[in-house]
Amino acid sequence: MKNIIIGQSGGPTAAINASLAGVVRQAMRSGEIGEIYGALNGIEGLIGRRIINLRSSIKSAEDYDRLAATPAMALGSCRYKMPAPPHQTYDEILRIFKDYGIGYFFYIGGNDSMDTVKQLSAFFKQKGEDIRCVGVPKTIDNDLPCTDHTPGFGSAAKYISGSIAELALDSSVYDMFSVIVAEVMGRNAGWLTAASVLARDTGCGSPQLIYLPETPFDPDDFIKRVSEYSKKKQLLIVAVSEGIKDKDGAYLSASGASVDGFGHAALAGAGRYLESLIKDRLGCKVRSIEFSVLQRAAGHYTSATDISEALRIGEEAVIAALSGQTGVMMTLERVSNSPYLVNFGSVPIEMCANLEKTIPAEWIIDGCDVSDEMAEYLRPLVKGNAPSFEEGVMPSYLYLDKTIV
Ligand code: F6P
Repeated sequence: MKNIIIGQSGGPTAAINASLAGVVRQAMRSGEIGEIYGALNGIEGLIGRRIINLRSSIKSAEDYDRLAATPAMALGSCRYKMPAPPHQTYDEILRIFKDYGIGYFFYIGGNDSMDTVKQLSAFFKQKGEDIRCVGVPKTIDNDLPCTDHTPGFGSAAKYISGSIAELALDSSVYDMFSVIVAEVMGRNAGWLTAASVLARDTGCGSPQLIYLPETPFDPDDFIKRVSEYSKKKQLLIVAVSEGIKDKDGAYLSASGASVDGFGHAALAGAGRYLESLIKDRLGCKVRSIEFSVLQRAAGHYTSATDISEALRIGEEAVIAALSGQTGVMMTLERVSNSPYLVNFGSVPIEMCANLEKTIPAEWIIDGCDVSDEMAEYLRPLVKGNAPSFEEGVMPSYLYLDKTIV
């Protein structure tokens, strides 16, 4: 019987460990798999042979549930770009896979991580090796093509929209006009910022303005709108993506930012930029709030739909690999909205690796709002509170035994 190895890569989400639990559970159930290994810190750890045995940490149904409800990445992560082939790294990985009897590789990640799946599956095919590589999508950014949405997005969307509704309540207590600028993650795709629109479902009417990376940001038009609100409203909430750009495509927050292995700038500061713009030009009360990593680590406020889909897509990945698939990414296809139904499938990895799906132009209104279609698309994804932990007690997260084997 062949063994499997699983890695996690890219930015964390509150649902990525549910996919890990899904892969492990289906592998155990299948009866067709020997050892179940985990690579610490993704492909980087794999190359360094930092490999653990997952059977020693995940033993019972309770352990699966705890893992599925634990945010961040139990195996750790990396942002490692595979070198262009041919390169000795590929031969080294093949040697490691042979040493550990690996027949299946599952990589849970976003666009960049799918590049690793693409490169490795192509290399193994070219070498005539039957080592199957399957990508399991995850990202709060929801920017992977070929899938209706990505696991991890629904929970982050729920946290963002719920928090904006709470901010609207908190900020409307004084009898004076004030502005809150809420900065949301997402470099080039504004899905998560757009999800703030669901706060309006609570009746708060906020956010009044939504700025996405898909539309060039015009400071003068922004100030004009804020000034108009100040004349008639008590409160203005602005949801802004960390990735807003000026008309020349330059990030408005990236000055002096560091860059990762894929050349992505580490962004933060779009909210502060808008805050100082308002302070300088209008002088009214304004506060910027950066959700930062809270939006992807909020295990206490996840979407039941998201967590169950994340778990299931991990299981489906194992089924796909055992049936002979390789060089694919698993997908979610929405069959209907009401009732909400999805099918699980897969697409050739070339169709999604390194590519980004942005918001359709027709779902963006006037450069500062989103359409009803966007809200319709989002609603099922945030549905249900994931039953994570017993009421009244602190979370009981699952920590893996990281003994290297
Ligand atoms: O790729 C997911 C993501 O959370 C992005 O939304 C964000 O821009 C980025 O990761 C932040 O990366 P890091 O945690 O490496 O700073």
